[in-house]
Amino acid sequence: MKILVTGAAGFIGSNVVDAFLAEGHEVTGYDNFSTGRLEFLESARHSERFTLLEADLEDRGKLNAAVAGRDLIVHLAANADVRFGTLHPRKDLDQNTICTWNVLEAMRQGGAGRIAFSSTGSVYGEPEVFPTPEDAPFPVQRSLYGASKLAAEGLICAYAEAYGMEAHIFRFVSLLGERYTHGHVVDFFRQLRDHPDRLHVLGNGKQRKSYLHVGDCVRAMRMALEKARGKVNVFNLGTDEYCEVNDSIGWICNLLGVSPTIAYGGGERGWIGDSPFIFLDCRKIRSLGWKPELRIKEAVELTVRYLQANPAVTA
Ligand SMILES: NC(=O)c1ccc[n+]([C@@H]2O[C@H](COP(=O)([O-])OP(=O)(O)OC[C@H]3O[C@@H](n4cnc5c(N)ncnc54)[C@H](O)[C@@H]3O)[C@@H](O)[C@H]2O)c1
Repeated sequence: MKILVTGAAGFIGSNVVDAFLAEGHEVTGYDNFSTGRLEFLESARHSERFTLLEADLEDRGKLNAAVAGRDLIVHLAANADVRFGTLHPRKDLDQNTICTWNVLEAMRQGGAGRIAFSSTGSVYGEPEVFPTPEDAPFPVQRSLYGASKLAAEGLICAYAEAYGMEAHIFRFVSLLGERYTHGHVVDFFRQLRDHPDRLHVLGNGKQRKSYLHVGDCVRAMRMALEKARGKVNVFNLGTDEYCEVNDSIGWICNLLGVSPTIAYGGGERGWIGDSPFIFLDCRKIRSLGWKPELRIKEAVELTVRYLQANPAVTA
């Protein structure tokens, strides 16, 4: 297949690129390098089947040219920074919703028929059902990020209906693993590297979250793209477990051999719009034969080891 990956130089995107190249596909990476890193594409750039386009999704001319003739668009580029959404209220709308519309329009004009989209478990807001299935109601949106992703999902579904496209929408829990650059593990790792005796934690540390290793996530996406061929295919991607932030702190401190004094920011949320409990029902993706290979504790530990071995990521 000829595949375009937007956000190819990012944490998840670069792992997706490597997986598709390993399967023999022809892959074009599209990235503006706002948070992406060229070094994440080091092995991809050795492949003759990989092309890198440094461009912004807001540049519709470049985007249209990149999309034309592709069999599949894996649209991962976004503002993935959930926490600071309230500081720049247009950013999620522009980067996550409008840029997704730009991708869909490029697909319509260029005749590309399949899109895979990285959505998020945040679209469920604060649901009443746990684990939360794909068909749970969306009670109230709590974050600009979640709202922008849900709006993008809506546009994708409408384009699939109107223009005969096929869509795979993946609602990820928080991901961990190689090339991880943002999230609680990197925050705690940085703090403890600089001051091993103290750790500041947002919220009360009792937030319950589910995590998934990026390798397991990419395998799940591949399997869904192969086996689920409806018009709109929505999948939660996560593990069948969750942990408290305090559990994760314990694993990280153990691995680093530190016993810091912990100062909690207080309250049950880390920031405005943070969901204190995320736990997705993943029976739908499991019914295709996928299951995660790593448990949350192993994924956290692998991430810490990756950050230790790659100091440039946290420099
Ligand atoms: N990491 C997670 O835990 C997680 C969880 C749920 C959903 N997601 C979603 O998965 C996707 C990938 O996330 P990630 O963690 O790899 O983030 P990331 O920041 O590492 O990757 C995003 C990539 O997109 C690029 N990009 C951003 N805006 C762009 C634009 N306008 N034009 C071109 N390129 C642009 C960035 O340079 C970067 O390489 C995002 O859509 C994110 O919302 C991530």
